[in-house]
Order: sequence, then structure tokens, then C-alpha cells
Amino acid sequence: MKYKSQKVAYWFFGLCMLLFSLQIVYGFIMGFDRIGIQGLHEIIPFNVARAVHTNLLVVWLLTGFMGAAYYIIPEEAQHELISVKWAYVQLISLAVVGVVAIVGFHFNHWEGRKFLEIPRELDYLVVVNVLLFLFLIIGTLYKGKQKTTTAIVLVMGLFFAALLYIPGMIWFDSQVMDSFFRWWVVHLWVEGVWELIMGGILSFLLIKLTGVDREVIEKWLYVIVGLTFLSGVLGTGHHYYYIGVNKIWLIVGGIFSALEPLAFLAMALFAVNMYRKGEKSHPNKIALFWTIGASIVSFVGAGLLGFAHTLPQTNLYTHGTLVTAMHGHYAFWGAYAMIVLAIISYALPNLTGRKRYNSTQGNMAFWLSNIGMLGMTVAFGVAGVVQVYMERKLKMDFMDVQNEISIHFVVLLICATMFTTGIALFIYDFVKYGRPTDEALEGPQNGNLSSSEIKIGRYPASKQKITISEEIN
Ligand code: HEM
Ligand code: HEM
Ligand SMILES: [Fe+2]
Repeated sequence: MKYKSQKVAYWFFGLCMLLFSLQIVYGFIMGFDRIGIQGLHEIIPFNVARAVHTNLLVVWLLTGFMGAAYYIIPEEAQHELISVKWAYVQLISLAVVGVVAIVGFHFNHWEGRKFLEIPRELDYLVVVNVLLFLFLIIGTLYKGKQKTTTAIVLVMGLFFAALLYIPGMIWFDSQVMDSFFRWWVVHLWVEGVWELIMGGILSFLLIKLTGVDREVIEKWLYVIVGLTFLSGVLGTGHHYYYIGVNKIWLIVGGIFSALEPLAFLAMALFAVNMYRKGEKSHPNKIALFWTIGASIVSFVGAGLLGFAHTLPQTNLYTHGTLVTAMHGHYAFWGAYAMIVLAIISYALPNLTGRKRYNSTQGNMAFWLSNIGMLGMTVAFGVAGVVQVYMERKLKMDFMDVQNEISIHFVVLLICATMFTTGIALFIYDFVKYGRPTDEALEGPQNGNLSSSEIKIGRYPASKQKITISEEIN
């Protein structure tokens, strides 16, 4: 079944694409800074560009998660959104907060609290906004006919993400305390509750795209949630090694963060296995690519590249270098950017009623952005390793080292251009789909597979003896 109020999701996805494009612009400003092309330096110095780049990343991903929830929850709960009007109010206020924050970055002081640099006065608006969002989503789930594990995990992730924003709002005079609690937000988001959001979206997509039974898929979801909490909570210690807190964190952080890749490995195995098990193949191959891709790339970016610098013995050398940027890019890309692009790719044909499955642009978008981002990751990695060696082994001066490694940023910019071409094609496709329509969201058939579209093995169902009448659900 489809629900008319799912249309709200489209506009969240639209805002998401807009903010994503802006994030990339600021990435390029920094990339050019790094090779000495600094025409914008007076207006947008490196530190401002960096703050805008990373904070925009957080905001566009959250916008994407919200869109995902507005799409998924009515369908899972089998109930229209409790208020469409308020959902649009929430969207507009989110956009306003976003714009004010971005503009503010260009004039304001810079706190140096990476990822959480929205001026604190605006934080209160963020809180109101998120409360409204949660009210609409939880209210819909509550009123709905069913409360599936998928929906509950997704909503739990969103709820705890909101709750965890609070420690980051408290003011501390002590740098150590400030840093300590900043990680409650940043780490417990990306290596904790956001994984639940990712798991929920992944589970929804796999149920829709592979046709494997919900029971089987949701059993895996429990495993993922379990592994995430087991490792992620105490894994926070990998940010406490050398910030001035108790040395016990060296051991706790080392051990538990070393276990974190297991949760991402489970997600990758989960997705690939469900894909293999699935007998019905959904025609929306592009959504399937993004879905399976997210699970694999997140394992590499978060799991493997995270592990590469998570032990205290290595982190002593790599902390705060471009090795971190290498991991940061691939982890965020694989786990969160790709899952947002996956749900958008899945939702668009259903919202608009246009089935542009397998468009050339759609396929090219996937490959160009992924190869481009892989190249960027390698460029950051090489620059990072050289930086660690020169700065921390040879004890060369910080700025001299930055000069030595600037060549790697030429490579970075080339790969970033490829990446951006891919994203431009994705957005082109997004625009080509056109607006959502009520007709597309009416009637039980729409958005789901008609029997002739379902293929078992190589043949369309219509050409086979058995006809599948149930929809993939
Ligand atoms: C999707 C999940 C993940 C994302 C999005 C992510 C992203 C990031 C980002 C952006 C940073 C820089 C933060 C800052 O300095 O403010 C960071 C740092 C770090 N991450 Fe991750 N990460 C993820 C998962 C992991 C995992 C699973 C591990 C370990 C196995 C890990 C290990 C680390 C370590 C050790 C640092 C600190 C680096 C330093 O000292 O400079 N990360 N991560
Ligand atoms: C065209 C694209 C992009 C370019 C040229 C670019 C470039 C950069 C540069 C130069 C930095 C600063 C590194 C430093 O401290 O010197 C940075 C930081 C960062 N970027 Fe990007 N970026 C791009 C796209 C993205 C995307 C798509 C994501 C997320 C999926 C992302 C996530 C991040 C993160 C998390 C950081 C902070 C890393 C850290 O804390 O070490 N960037 N980016
Ligand atoms: Fe962490």
C-alpha cells in the first residue's frame, strides 16, 4: 500500500539534494585552498569552509533521514501521517535554521567544535524542530495498524539521535570536559544510534527489493542492533586516549572500538545474503545497487578504515591528520550518504509514478560517484600517511609538511570532479522524475510490483506457470 502523505518525503529529499550540492561546493573551496588557489580566502577562509562543509554534511544527512522516515513510517504502520500540514511546517523551519546557520558561519566566531558548530542560540530552534518531527513520526506509528521491528528500530534511532544532541549543547569552560561530551554526540551518533537508522532503512529496502520474508530480515536487524551497542558505546573511548581524561580509556576504547567493525560486517553480510536469497527481483536495480553498495562501502570505510587508526598505538601518530579525513569521507559516504541515496532512488518512482528504472544517468551516477569517492579516499590516505611520517616521525614543521603534500590534493580534486559529475547526474535524474503526484500514491497496486514485473530467475512472471499475486512486501 501507498499513502498520500508519503509525498512529504519528496520535499525533504529535495532539500537534501540542495544542501548536499552546497556541501560539495565548500569541499572544492578547501581542495583549492590546499593547492594554493585561494581567490575566495578573504570571504571564505579555510576554517569557515571546513565548518560549513562538515556541518552541512550533518544537516543534509539528517534531512535525508527525516525524508526516509516520512516515506517509510506511513507504509510500515499502515497509516497516513497524522498531520501533513505540520510536516511541511517542520520542513520549512528546518530549511530556515539551515540557511541561517550557514550564513552565520561566514560572520560568526568559530568555536572549533567540529560538526557541532551551529551557534548555540540556534540549537533551541533545532530542538523544537526535531521535537515536532518526532511527534509526527511517533504519533503515526502509535496510531498505525502495525508496529514492525523495522519501524521501531528506525524510530528508536531517530529518537536517541535527538536525545544525544543535548550533551553537545551544554556549555563547559573546560576544554577537556567540552571535548569529552562533544564525543557523546559525534561518536554515539555515527557509531551508535545512526547505525540503527541505517539498519532500519536497510531492512525496509531489503524487504521491498529482495522479497525475502520480513521475519528473516528483521532477525538480522536484532543482531546488528546488538553488535552496535555492545561495541559502540564503550568504543567512544577511542576519542579519549590523549585528551586529558583517565588512562583507563586506552584499554576500554582500544578493545571495544576494535569490535565495532563487526556491526558493519554484519550489515554487509546481511545485505548480500538477503540479495542472494531473494528470488523475486525488483526492477528498480539502481535502488538495489545503492542499497547493497551502502552496506559494503560502509564496512570498508567505517569498519576497515576505522580499525586502521583505532588502537591507541596507531592513534598516537595518526590523530587529527588527513588519515582521519580519509576515514571520515569513506565512512560517511558508505554508511550514510549512500543509504540516503538508496532510499531516494527507491522512493522516487513510487512517489512520482514514473518508472525510470535503469536510466543511463542513474547507473552512471552510481559508478562515477563511487569511483570518484574511492579515489578521493586514496588521495587523502596517501597524503595522511606521508603527513604522519614527516610531521610526527621526522618532526618537520606543520606548515612545511602541508606544502610537501599539496600534490595529493591535485589528485583529490581530479577524483572529486569525477565524484561531483556522478552526483550531478543523480540530481539530474531526481529532477527528471518530476513532482510527486496523488495518482501515483493511490490504490493498492501502485508503487508495488505488478505481477508482470516480478521476475523469478530469468523469466517475467507472466511467462511462467505460477503467477505471483502477493505484492512484495
Ligand atoms: C559510519 C560510521 C563512522 C563514521 C561516519 C565515522 C566518521 C568519523 C569522523 C568524521 C571522524 C573525525 C571526527 C573528528 O575528529 O571530529 C572519525 C574519527 C575516528 N573514527 Fe570514525 N567513523 C565511523 C566509524 C568508525 C569505526 C567503526 C571506527 C573503529 C573501528 C572508527 C574509528 C575512528 C577513530 C579512531 C577516530 C579518531 C581519529 C583521530 O584521532 O583523529 N570510526 N570518524
Ligand atoms: C567534491 C567533494 C569533496 C571535496 C573536494 C572534499 C574535501 C574536503 C577537505 C579538503 C576537507 C578538509 C580536510 C582537512 O582538514 O584538510 C574535508 C573534510 C571533510 N569532508 Fe569532504 N570533500 C568532499 C566531499 C565530501 C563528502 C561527499 C563527504 C561525506 C560523505 C565529506 C565529508 C567530510 C568530512 C566528514 C570531513 C571532516 C574530516 C575530518 O574531520 O578529518 N566530504 N573535505
Ligand atoms: Fe568514534
